Amino acid sequence: MRIASLPEFLLLRIERAAPDARTRKPLNRQLYQIIRDAILAQQLPAGLQLPSSRDLARELALSRNTVTYAYEQLIAEGYLETRAGAGTFIADTTPDQIPAATGGKAALTDPSGASELSARGAQLLRHAGVSNLQWGAFMPGVPDVTLFPNKIWSRLQNKHWRRSRAELLTYGEGGGYPPLRAAVAEYLRMARSVNCDASQVLITTGIHQSIDLAAKLLGEAGDRAWVEDPCYWGTRSVLNSLGIKPVPIAVDAEGLQLRPKDLRHPPRFIHVTPSHQYPLGMVMSLSRRRLLLEYAAAHKVWIMEDDYDSEFRYGSRPLASLQGMDSQDRVLYMGTFSKTLFPGLRIGFMVVPQSLAESFATGLSELYRGGQGFAQAVVADFMTEGHFASHIRRMRLLYAERLRLLQEAINRHFGDSVRITGGEAGLHLALGLPDGCDDLAISREAAAQGIIARPLFRYYMNPATAQRGLLLGYACVPEQQIGPIFERLAGIIKRHWPARKVG
Ligand SMILES: Cc1ncc(COP(=O)(O)O)c(C=O)c1O
Repeated sequence: MRIASLPEFLLLRIERAAPDARTRKPLNRQLYQIIRDAILAQQLPAGLQLPSSRDLARELALSRNTVTYAYEQLIAEGYLETRAGAGTFIADTTPDQIPAATGGKAALTDPSGASELSARGAQLLRHAGVSNLQWGAFMPGVPDVTLFPNKIWSRLQNKHWRRSRAELLTYGEGGGYPPLRAAVAEYLRMARSVNCDASQVLITTGIHQSIDLAAKLLGEAGDRAWVEDPCYWGTRSVLNSLGIKPVPIAVDAEGLQLRPKDLRHPPRFIHVTPSHQYPLGMVMSLSRRRLLLEYAAAHKVWIMEDDYDSEFRYGSRPLASLQGMDSQDRVLYMGTFSKTLFPGLRIGFMVVPQSLAESFATGLSELYRGGQGFAQAVVADFMTEGHFASHIRRMRLLYAERLRLLQEAINRHFGDSVRITGGEAGLHLALGLPDGCDDLAISREAAAQGIIARPLFRYYMNPATAQRGLLLGYACVPEQQIGPIFERLAGIIKRHWPARKVG
C-alpha cells in the first residue's frame, strides 16, 4: 500500500511541532520522532510504504540527509523495514508494541499524562502540597544542612566502605539495621520517654513511609482517620492514597479539640502532633492526652503520634511523648532524622507495640524491601559515638538565635497586630494574619521575589474555620539574611493588609 498524503501528514505535524520550544531538536530527530509517534499511535498502519528518502526530502523541503537519518534510525529500532527492490515500509506490529501504542497515543493528545491517572491518582495530584522549592528563606521544616558535620559523616562512612560488608550491601533485614534499631530505642527511652526495646523499633524512610505502613497493615480502604485541622499535607495525601478518609478535627490552644459529636463515631486512626502541633505549634495538654489515650483504648483506635521536630525546644525541656503515657498499647510513635540530621537522608523510625513488632518488620520488607544499609550503619555510629547529641545541642542554640531574630523582625514591622504561634520549638513559626488578609496572594507574590512563605490556609481541610497566616521557617536562614528578607516580605504583607485594620 502506498499513500500519496504521507508527506502532507508529516508536514502538518512538523508545522505543529515547530513553535513548541521543547521540540527545538535537530530536524532529523524531529522527523524521526513524528514518524515514530504516528506508528505507535497506529496512525500509520503496518505495511504502509514510505516514499523514497529523496522524494520525501523534496516534498518536505528538507535535506536528504535529514530524511535518511530518520529512516535509518527507525529501521535500526524496528519501526520500519526495507524490502529488497521494493522500498521502505512500516514494520509489522509485534505484540510487545501494543502497550507502547496506547501510551504513545495518549502522549500525543495529552502530554501531561493527567488523563491516564486513576481517580485516586488524580485526587492526590489535585491536592498535592509538595513543592519543587525545598531550600531558602523561609522554607519551613528544613534544618540548616550547610552546617552538617560532613567530616565526621564521611569518616564514619569510609570506615564502613573500607570493610564493605555484604550485610550492608544486600537487602536490609526486616525492621532495619539492628545496631540502628538499638541506638534509636536507647535514644527514645532517654530523650522522649518512649517505652520500647529495639525489637519494637522499625527503620523506615521517614514519617511518610511510617504512616503508609501503619495504614496499610492496620487499616482498610473506607476507614476514617481523624487528623488535626490544620495538619501536615503529607499525612492527608498518604491516607487518601490508601482510601482512608481524613476527617478534620479543629485544634485550639490545647491541641485536638474533640467534641461529643466527634466522639460518637470512633475512627480507625487518629493522627496527632502532640509535642508541637503542625503547623500552629501548640503543645497538647495533659488532660487532652489522657482523654485521647482513654478513648483510643476504649474504642480500639490506633493513634499515630507524629513527633517530627520536638528535639528542638527552646527554653523548656522537650515534653515526654504520648507513647510514654500509654499503658494500653494504642500508640504508634513516629519520628524522623529529617530535622535532626538532614531531610535528603530519608531515614525515620517508628515504634510499635510489642504485639505488632514482628508483623510490622515483615510487612516493612515485604512492601518496600529494606536497604540503605550503609546510611543506617553511619547513623547508628553517629548516635552511639555522641555526635547526634552534640549536633542537636549546637543546632538548637543556633536555631534559637535565628528564631529570636525573626521574632524581632516581625515585631519591628507589625508589633501586636499579628500573632506568632509555635515559636517555642521546632524549625518554623506561624505568623497569624488578620481575617481578610489573603495569605495565598502574599505567598504567590513572595515566591515571585524568591521568598518562600507558605500560606496557612492551605494546611486546613475546612475552609470555614481556616485562619490566614504564613509559615515561616527560620532554621535554614543565615542570621544576617533574616532581617533584610523579612523586610521585603513585610512590604508584601502590608500591601495585602485589609484596609479597615490599617493604623
Ligand atoms: C508534621 C510532619 N510530619 C512528617 C513530616 C515529614 O517527615 P519525613 O521527612 O520523615 O517523611 C513533616 C515534614 O515537614 C512534618 O512537618
